[in-house]
Amino acid sequence: MNSSPSPTHHAPGENALAPAEPAGSVLIRTPVTADGSAMWHLARRSPGLDLNSPYTYLILCRHFSRTCLVAQAPEGLAGFVTGYLLPDRSDTLFVWQIAVASTHRRTGLGRRMIDSLLTGLVPLGIRHLQATVTPGNRASLALFSSVARDLGVECRESPFFPAEMFPAEDNPSSPHEPELLLQLGPFDRSGKQDGDRQQKEAPPCR
Ligand SMILES: CC(C)(COP(=O)(O)OP(=O)(O)OC[C@H]1O[C@@H](n2cnc3c(N)ncnc32)[C@H](O)[C@@H]1OP(=O)(O)O)[C@@H](O)C(=O)NCCC(=O)NCCS
Repeated sequence: MNSSPSPTHHAPGENALAPAEPAGSVLIRTPVTADGSAMWHLARRSPGLDLNSPYTYLILCRHFSRTCLVAQAPEGLAGFVTGYLLPDRSDTLFVWQIAVASTHRRTGLGRRMIDSLLTGLVPLGIRHLQATVTPGNRASLALFSSVARDLGVECRESPFFPAEMFPAEDNPSSPHEPELLLQLGPFDRSGKQDGDRQQKEAPPCR
């Protein structure tokens, strides 16, 4: 089991001011570098995610913590979401990876992490969210469709990285699927949204 760092354990220069949000017994908060190792472990346990180097998770915690969150359960890391603002479109949050530990899936935690990110960033001018998904990742597609439905915004799907762009040598027994781009928005800067939380199933992104 991964040990969880104290939420007050910040390296110099890290963002200690972002709001922390309790979600049941799971605390959603801004990551610190001490979370990087547990994020790597959770990514490694998450089929469907490309595993980045441990260094990548450390850099995300250190330089991109304003656009990342971790979900801390009493027993360890229950989830994380990593993202950054597009360098040429500062009103767009790109969600790089999101993972929820298998014991916490289908409890709304993925949604709560995305919602928390948007709650913090939309008032700062973020109007769009982008993410990529592989066509076979039903959970990920359902997650972003659910966000779009409840926020009353469009979710558009388009080609992004075709399968042949990924090196075949990376995983010869299981070639990489294509990555589709999902674009959600525009979000209402006032914070008011038109979504319909009563609707049973989110319409798919198109
Ligand atoms: C994708 C993932 C983060 C979803 O997290 P989660 O906490 O289980 O999702 P939530 O409980 O918040 O569910 C959000 C919505 O997606 C739906 N959903 C979640 N998992 C689903 C699944 N396996 N099949 C169908 N729908 C699913 C939920 O029903 C909910 O929809 P609703 O609002 O209409 O009820 C999680 O499955 C995961 O970690 N997968 C492995 C890593 C991965 O593939 N990440 C995405 C690529 S970066």
